[in-house]
Amino acid sequence: MKKYAEMTKAELQAELELVEKRYQELKDQHLTLNMARGKPGKEQLDMVSDITEVLKADSDFMCDGIDARNYGNLEGLPSCRKLFADVLGVQPENIFIGGSASLQLMYDTIAKCYTHGRVNSDKAWAKLDVVKWLCPAPGYDRHFKVSESFGMQMITVPMTPTGPDMDVVEELIRDPEVKGMWCVPKYSNPDGIIYSAETIRRIASMKPAAKDFLLMWDNAYCIHEFFGDYVPFPDILSECAKYGNEDMVFEFASTSKITFPGAGVSVFACSTHNMEYMKTLLNAQIISYDKVNQLRHIRYFKDKDGLLALMKKHAAILGPKFRCVLDALDKEIAPLGIAEWQRPNGGYFVSVNTMPGIAKATWQLCKEAGLTLTGAGATFPYGKDPKDSNMRVAPSLPPIEQLEKAMEIYCASMKLAALRKLLAA
Ligand SMILES: Cc1ncc(COP(=O)(O)O)c(C=O)c1O
Repeated sequence: MKKYAEMTKAELQAELELVEKRYQELKDQHLTLNMARGKPGKEQLDMVSDITEVLKADSDFMCDGIDARNYGNLEGLPSCRKLFADVLGVQPENIFIGGSASLQLMYDTIAKCYTHGRVNSDKAWAKLDVVKWLCPAPGYDRHFKVSESFGMQMITVPMTPTGPDMDVVEELIRDPEVKGMWCVPKYSNPDGIIYSAETIRRIASMKPAAKDFLLMWDNAYCIHEFFGDYVPFPDILSECAKYGNEDMVFEFASTSKITFPGAGVSVFACSTHNMEYMKTLLNAQIISYDKVNQLRHIRYFKDKDGLLALMKKHAAILGPKFRCVLDALDKEIAPLGIAEWQRPNGGYFVSVNTMPGIAKATWQLCKEAGLTLTGAGATFPYGKDPKDSNMRVAPSLPPIEQLEKAMEIYCASMKLAALRKLLAA
């Protein structure tokens, strides 16, 4: 098969007729398929549903000498802090256990900068005319939504195969109005990239003009390998501390994609100084988070090895799903030269970059044939992908048989969009 860009008009026209016919056949099946969000599949949820049974009315609710059912211990049960400290490679005193979603902790951390300022701010950010924020893109749409909701001026930083383009970052942080940056350092959403050691060193050693610069280190996929073994990852707190930047960073994680999204346990990790400051502010907001759920997680997993053992079982389900997506792309799309994609070993997404100008059209064609995908553009600040090219594919939710169909629709739609664009040129 020739690449589309090398085809004559007549060849493109002949191919269009074939693809249109196939697309129509798929559309006529009136399917309803969804690859929009990184949700664990039912099999994964079923695997951990017995966590709901580890505590019964007659259970021992005491943990570390604390009754998990009662008020107290704002920062979380010591055993739970230890569990996450081991996962993130930090000390238990640097861990704060929050509620059921890390996104809420992230939102709250930023909200506190606006209402009260950072530990080292001259002013609460709400009093500033402009707050600029670095957004490596493609990135996580909900990060951008948080920034947008606070009226930040988002600045796109290109992603490279080793993480955000640090030449660009180092230039931009010379502006004192640039107050922070989003990072998903391991199996980034959506690219599935692991930041290189050199990128991490350059991030940890940044010297931003803003003294109250906030590095939002969202390590959502810290133990989420689906091909191969667990990959150890540097602890950003001590990396930053090496350069006197210990107060610059907050790290986040959760069990949303380990136990239940929306009913797991979330954490942030930060310096002692930040911890004291955050506890003072949080103390006005809540007496204690859900320690009963923390206790369930401790009893269920026991330690980091317990978590890693479950992630191996997840990998046995997720690996074949990702392979299904990658195989379809390799077979149907690669020979045509109309898109490129990453080949992640973990995380929840495959990031596809189509030829410029066809992502939206591909998304629309998928929708009309019954396949819902993350909106084209969603992976960029303000939902605007300047090249109209990036598409986030989330293979985790549908069973394999549905994924195969979904990928047929996806590939046919992309081909159709590409052919129409090339023929209109
Ligand atoms: C990078 C990233 N961070 C955070 C989340 C959400 O985590 P939580 O459920 O803990 O809010 C997701 C979910 O897709 C994600 O991809």
